[in-house]
Amino acid sequence: MPSETPFPGVRYEFPSASESETYRFGAALARVLQPGDVVCLNGRLGAGKTRLVQAVAAAMGNDSQPVTSPTFTLIHEYVGDVDLFHVDAYRLRDSDEFLELGGEEILAAGGICLIEWANRIDDVLPRDALHITLDVLGENVREISVSATTGKAAGRVERLRQILEESAQSSGDSASD
Ligand SMILES: Nc1ncnc2c1ncn2[C@@H]1O[C@H](COP(=O)(O)OP(=O)(O)OP(=O)(O)O)[C@@H](O)[C@H]1O
Ligand SMILES: [Mg+2]
Repeated sequence: MPSETPFPGVRYEFPSASESETYRFGAALARVLQPGDVVCLNGRLGAGKTRLVQAVAAAMGNDSQPVTSPTFTLIHEYVGDVDLFHVDAYRLRDSDEFLELGGEEILAAGGICLIEWANRIDDVLPRDALHITLDVLGENVREISVSATTGKAAGRVERLRQILEESAQSSGDSASD
C-alpha cells in the first residue's frame, strides 16, 4: 500500500454563454499554464475544444497559424516563446498510435500540450494533467468543467478560478473604478 494520502481532487465549473466567454476562459488558462503542462480536452463534436485551443494560442501570442507537417495532421504546433502542441486524438486508433506519431516526444518537449478527445489516449497521459470537459447546454451556451487529481494540477485550477472571478468582478465594477 502506498503511504501517500490520496489527493481528493478539485473541480471548477465555468459557465460560458458565448464564444467570447470561452475566449476569456482561454485567456485565463493561458496565464496559468506552465511549460510542460498537459491539458486533456473532452466534450462532444462541436463543443468548443478547438475554439478553446485557439483562444489559448492567441492569448499566449503564439503564431495564429499552426505548423502542421503532412505526415502529422493530427498534431499541430503553434510556435511561440513557449510552443503549444494541439493534438486531435479523435481519429487515433489508440494510445499506441499516438506514441508511434511521436506523442512521447511531444509530451516531453517542454511546450504546452492540449489534447482534444484525450480520453481516447488517457492511459499514456501524465497524472498531473488538467482535465477540461465542455458540455453543450444550448446553441451558444457551454459549461466548462476543469478538474485535477494532483496537488500540482490543483494549483493551476485554483489560480484559474481566482483570475476568472477577479476579471468577472472588475468588468461588473467598471463604473466604480
Ligand atoms: N460558448 C461557446 N464556446 C465555444 N464555442 C461556441 C460557443 N457557442 C457557440 N460555439 C460554436 O461551437 C463551435 C465549436 O467548434 P469547435 O470546432 O471548437 O468544436 P470541437 O469541440 O473542437 O469539435 P470537434 O470534436 O469536432 O473537433 C464553433 O462553431 C463555435 O462558434
Ligand atoms: Mg476540434
